[in-house]
Amino acid sequence: MTVRKAIIPAAGFGTRFLPVTRTIPKVMLPVLNEPAIQFSVQEAARAGIERIVFVISRGQEATNDYFRPAPALESALETRGNTELLNEQRGISSMVRTSFVYQDEQLGLGHAVLMARDEIGDEPFAVFLPDDIIWSDSPTIGALIDVFSQHGGSVIAVRQVPDEAIPSLGVIDPEPLGDKVYRVKRMVEKPRLEDAPSNLAIVGRYVLTPQVFDALERARPGAIGEIQLTDAIDAVRAEQGAYAYEITDDHFDVGTPIGMLKASIYAAMKRDDMADELKSWLKTMVNS
Ligand code: G1P
Repeated sequence: MTVRKAIIPAAGFGTRFLPVTRTIPKVMLPVLNEPAIQFSVQEAARAGIERIVFVISRGQEATNDYFRPAPALESALETRGNTELLNEQRGISSMVRTSFVYQDEQLGLGHAVLMARDEIGDEPFAVFLPDDIIWSDSPTIGALIDVFSQHGGSVIAVRQVPDEAIPSLGVIDPEPLGDKVYRVKRMVEKPRLEDAPSNLAIVGRYVLTPQVFDALERARPGAIGEIQLTDAIDAVRAEQGAYAYEITDDHFDVGTPIGMLKASIYAAMKRDDMADELKSWLKTMVNS
């Protein structure tokens, strides 16, 4: 079974990153020198996804523009004979087709996903939460698509998290099925620690069926007064089943400035032209 389309919810004020988010969409803030959202788009493209729908707020059109061709820049690079950079730039706009829809009210993640319903239509689709960046050799969403092909239903990525992270995440009640794969017996959004069924928390990668849209249409506000995607997936679970795929790769939540900083340092450490200089500077910082 193929998954051709994906939704990337990217609306919101980016409150934790004010003041920079007064004019720059949060997902366009850089991890080193790449906008955070590019990691999700690349992961989608690597897994064969052809079309991405961004859900944005008004004024955040830069998010979609970024993935369109930049003819003036490209011809300048061509004139200068900078082929490497030119190919890199062309690669950004040729990865996938993108479009966007608006979310005019901030009613929650589930509501954001529902805004893209008409663009997706009646077929299974992926969802990427761009705050979650996963460094792995093969795209995580590809592994989820494999689980979906085998079992159907909804498939979500999960990871082991420490107790203190539980109340701000979605958590599953898992029944092990095989290597890294679980059947989800129940899922709950932002539980109190004492109510959490496990330490396996949802990471922002999903493969969902269009029935989830029906559940979102019916959904009432859940945790923190918002329409929650987790609740809608749990509602269709009884009928269609839900499965989880556990990731053990390096993961960053770039939804906070410190998370973004850590991801940037991690990315720099992986670069030959930066790693040594960064390491020696960090040593002096730690020792001062
Ligand atoms: C969302 C999901 C939650 C998930 C988290 C992962 O929460 O609702 O289930 O664990 O993303 O990043 P949010 O961060 O939007 O509050």
